[in-house]
This record gives sequence, structure tokens and C-alpha cells, in this order.
Amino acid sequence: MNVRQHLAENPTCLAPLAGWSDSIFRRLCKRAGAGWVFTEMVSSDGVLHRQSKTMEFIEFCESERPISIQLYGGNSEVMARAAEMLAFHRPDGLDLNFGCPVKKVIKTGAGSALLRDLPRMTEIVRRVVAAVDLPVSAKIRAGWEEDHAVEIALALADAGVQMVTVHARTQAMKFSGKADWCIIQRVKAAVRIPVIGNGDVRSAVDAEQMVRQTGCDGIMIGRGSQGNPWIFSQVRARLAGLPVPSEPTAEEVDRTLLEHAAEMVEHYGEKRAMYMMRKHLLCYLRGRPLFNRYRSMLVNSNSWTALRDNLLVLRLAGQRFDDMLNTESDR
Ligand SMILES: Cc1cc2nc3c(=O)[nH]c(=O)nc-3n(C[C@H](O)[C@H](O)[C@H](O)COP(=O)(O)O)c2cc1C
Repeated sequence: MNVRQHLAENPTCLAPLAGWSDSIFRRLCKRAGAGWVFTEMVSSDGVLHRQSKTMEFIEFCESERPISIQLYGGNSEVMARAAEMLAFHRPDGLDLNFGCPVKKVIKTGAGSALLRDLPRMTEIVRRVVAAVDLPVSAKIRAGWEEDHAVEIALALADAGVQMVTVHARTQAMKFSGKADWCIIQRVKAAVRIPVIGNGDVRSAVDAEQMVRQTGCDGIMIGRGSQGNPWIFSQVRARLAGLPVPSEPTAEEVDRTLLEHAAEMVEHYGEKRAMYMMRKHLLCYLRGRPLFNRYRSMLVNSNSWTALRDNLLVLRLAGQRFDDMLNTESDR
């Protein structure tokens, strides 16, 4: 795969999002205009032992390409063997997670723990790069507590990664505070490999500002895509200087939500799918008039048809509410 060519065609990337970016969501984002998509992180041990959850996380279909599987682990030998096994699934790339701040992951010397152990981080990269015939990329944070992203990115490029994604926060920040895009700017100026900017892109305007400020080669969007796959076509259009598609109407949102739910039902079975849809639903419907009043009814929809009917109730109530407000303002 030619990394630069893919980014030139479509610089938008769907972030790896544990518990969110499954095959169904990735396909939905692709249809909505996303370029490169990433699986949620899978553990190298889970891959080696072919754990059922891990194997489910790495399933993908052709329409998701280009797709990278994201791998994490703290042991270079295990990471290389896991990478070799993943290569048999023929993804377009492997992405190494050096940014996860979750305690359970750090405890094993993986994820962002590697930000303070560059020799081990680069050893992992070298072994993985040698083990597979695929582009290997890395996703990093700025550092553990302090920013030393340039040093990290230079070491990674030297060890053989073909692309680096910079989430412009330190490990200590977790998801709080504001992402500092100057960090992305400095990394872009320092390395020759493509740099993907990540952190706090919530709109097409944000994406354009990030590209302008940092010169990054791609934009990775995480939370901004939750309940909002439309962001990809909006960002793509804005970056290409084309008219930005307007925000979807309530009807379009409901249609997409139901499509999403139908695919989930087909994939996971109705009971599991309806449970998994709850978090998506809360994101799709945030800000909708009267949502709080109908929230409990909606999240407790226990079948696809119940969800469809409940959505209609919400939409009609919202329309009546809007009509009432308009009549009031006409008086
Ligand atoms: C629910 C959730 C799950 C995440 N899972 C992963 C993951 O599996 N691998 C990873 O590298 N980053 C993960 N992240 C971090 C995101 O990929 C991204 O770096 C971060 O959310 C900042 O980007 P954003 O502001 O566009 O959301 C996760 C973030 C969230 C909110």
C-alpha cells in the first residue's frame, strides 16, 4: 500500500476507538466518506492465544479498506509474533499503540508506558517491521508527563514506521484539557514520514485549522465521529475546497441510526445489538428537542422495531415542539 497516495486521495482517518470502532461502525464511516480506518486496539497476547474477543475485533470486510489493525503489547518478541499472525488476515497496515493511558494496559508495560522507554519502543518497532511485509505505523501521545513528541517520532521513523499519528496530549492528561496542536506542528517539521494529526477535531472548520496550523498529512477523528459519521464527508469537502455538505436533518439521522442498528442486529443478534446500540444512540440523538423526556424509552428499546417506533415518537414530538415555538415567535 502506498501510504502517501492514500492520504492524498482522502486524508480523513477514523480513530481506533475501543468499544466503538467495530466493523459495522467502520463501514458506516466509510460510506459517510472516511478514508483510512483503524480497528480498536487488540492485545498481542490475545492475538497469540486467538482469544475469541480479539478475533472478533480484527474481523473486517473489503469495503473497509484501507484498514489498519491496531496492536498493543510491551514485549517485542510477542508483538512480532502477533504481527506475523495478523498479517495473515491481510489488513492494509499494522498500527502500534504507544498512547493508551489506561492503567490495565500501562501495568503490562504497553501503550503509553512505552513513551518513557524509547529503547523498548524502538525495539518493538524494529521486530514488528522485520516480521511483516506491511506498512507499520504508530500512534503516540506527546509524552508521559512532558512533551517530547519530536524525539519519539524521530526514533520511530528511524526504527522503520511509515507513518505516525500524534494525539497532541500527554499520558498524564488522559482525555482532559485541550490538545496542543503545536506538538503536531513540531513533529511534522521534524520527520519525513507522513504525520496524522489527532485531538479535538469536532468539525470541518477544526480540521481545516489543524491542517493550516500543523501542515499534517491526515486528520484522525475519534469522538467527533461518535453519532456523527457525516463529519468525514464534511472534513473531506472542506479540505478539498469544495462546498461542505450541510448537517443531516433529524430524519436523515434517524435513518442512519436505524441502518446502523439493523446491521448490528444482523451481525451480533438482536439482544446484544440493542444493548450495544445504547451508547451510539445517545450520541446520534444528543441535542435533539425533547430527547431527555424520551431518553429512557429510547435506550430501553429491546428490538429494532421498538427502536424504529420510539424514534418516530421522538421525531413527531420534536416537530410539534418546533411548530409550537414557531407559532409563539410569530405572535
Ligand atoms: C472510547 C474511546 C476509545 C479509544 N480507544 C482507543 C484505542 O483502542 N486505541 C487508540 O490508539 N486510541 C484510542 N482512543 C483514543 C482516540 O483514538 C483518540 O486518540 C482520542 O480520542 C483523541 O482524538 P479525538 O479528540 O478526535 O477523540 C480511544 C478514545 C476513546 C474516547
